[in-house]
Amino acid sequence: MKYLALVLLVAAAWGQSPKYGVGRAPTAEEVKAWAITVFPDGRGLPEGSGTAAEGKDVYERRCQRCHGSEGKGGDEPPIVGGKGTIATPKPLKTVGSYWPYATTLFDYIRRAMPFKDPGMLTANQTYAVSAYILQQNGLIGANEAMNAKTLPQVKMPNKDGFIADPRPDTGKGAKK
Ligand code: HEC
Repeated sequence: MKYLALVLLVAAAWGQSPKYGVGRAPTAEEVKAWAITVFPDGRGLPEGSGTAAEGKDVYERRCQRCHGSEGKGGDEPPIVGGKGTIATPKPLKTVGSYWPYATTLFDYIRRAMPFKDPGMLTANQTYAVSAYILQQNGLIGANEAMNAKTLPQVKMPNKDGFIADPRPDTGKGAKK
């Protein structure tokens, strides 16, 4: 029994599964590289800053060919417009009309855009292009810097348009 505990301990220290003896624990560096989640309240936003005026250039070079002029849509979905359409029979879901948080825009772009080269933008460029999209949606001014402090403060029009998922396993349903 003592021996088994020792084996388990050593295996755990190496990050190997005791059963198969494969793999290793990720290093702190590796975990850090993957742990890039930005939460709705802004936790996880990195240092850096950018304005819409700066982001226009990033947008035109890296995003426009898919999302169209000024984000109004091209071969890929529009990310600008649709204001006031969400509660109508023809909702146009964009960042401006639909998304509840501005913070997750940063997360999404950093994680997934440009579609074929995600991860290529610097933090400053990601803030700037986020600012550009918010500005095109009429939510901030062209020279308002977006950063870890200001991005969580942007008021998104559809913030209250979502309801908590009442299924019991989400932990958010009505209390019994
Ligand atoms: C090669 C084409 C392409 C390029 C370039 C591209 N995108 Fe996208 N983008 C897409 C596609 C396709 C989707 C939809 C992905 C999905 O739904 O899984 C998308 C989705 C998005 C969305 C989410 C829209 C929504 O409401 O669901 C945002 C925001 C976005 N892109 C921003 C950007 C930004 C910013 C850039 C430039 C840095 C960029 N994209 C460059 C193809 C592209």
